[in-house]
Amino acid sequence: MPQRDRKRVLVPTMGALHPAHGELIRVGRDYAGKQGEVAVSIFVNPLQFEPGSDFERYPRPEKNDEELCRQAGADLLFRPNREEMYHPDQSVIVDETILANTLEGKSRPGHFRGVCTVVAKLFNILDPDVAIFGEKDFQQLAVIRRMVRDLNFPVEIVSVPTVREPDGLACSSRNRYLGSEERDQASVIRSALLQAADLARSGETFAQRVVAATRKIIETAPLARIDYVELVDAETLQSIDSVRPNALLAAAVFFGKTRLIDNIRLP
Ligand code: PAJ
Repeated sequence: MPQRDRKRVLVPTMGALHPAHGELIRVGRDYAGKQGEVAVSIFVNPLQFEPGSDFERYPRPEKNDEELCRQAGADLLFRPNREEMYHPDQSVIVDETILANTLEGKSRPGHFRGVCTVVAKLFNILDPDVAIFGEKDFQQLAVIRRMVRDLNFPVEIVSVPTVREPDGLACSSRNRYLGSEERDQASVIRSALLQAADLARSGETFAQRVVAATRKIIETAPLARIDYVELVDAETLQSIDSVRPNALLAAAVFFGKTRLIDNIRLP
């Protein structure tokens, strides 16, 4: 295969950029080096939003996004509109059929089909050598890695650890939907996951007890409504009965209409 002398790195996003996106772009910059190029894509992808979800009200602060890209060291901003990305009669989709069925996939049917389809298109349009994804969306990362493996995309997938607010809440474009009380209480997700990790560290191996303890802590926040708390194998994303190497505890919690996700590797 002919090697390009300038590395091309892609950071796919849906905009409403925050410090975590900035971190992904900076990691991309390191991978690209001085000679290489970092492209950021911003596209609020209708295909990955379920009907009735927040597609229409998803924030689109264009000027702020441009500024953040510039400051974090991006060379190119790709911000297509819907018509440029999808033919009205587009009939081909990319569907990962195993990893996408658990966790987020159960709560958001069709979500990962939308993610895979748009990421495959972005890979074809922008032709990156490297693409950067965040570990907050752990399942998305696993599904994309599987797509790249199974469809032979010549793209190296690099992951970046979750970037957090000072109180531990994972940065997310959706945090700005939270009312002030909801925002205060939302840090309970991170504390619950950390306490679960402590419990595992102190010798608890029974998944049901770890999950129950996590739920109980999250439920101390009156505004929290748990969607799921699950212990899974980080490779297969299938539920497991006991804490073992590669165990990942994942949670999705509603505060009002805002759905937040987070995860932690158990020791
Ligand atoms: P978006 O939610 O904008 O996220 C873009 C990238 O930023 C994803 O790789 C996501 O995992 C990462 N990210 C978001 N919050 C993070 C955090 N707190 N710490 C680390 N990384 C974080 O994810 C999407 O967009 C879309 O599904 C996309 C991949 C662009 C396809 O449409």
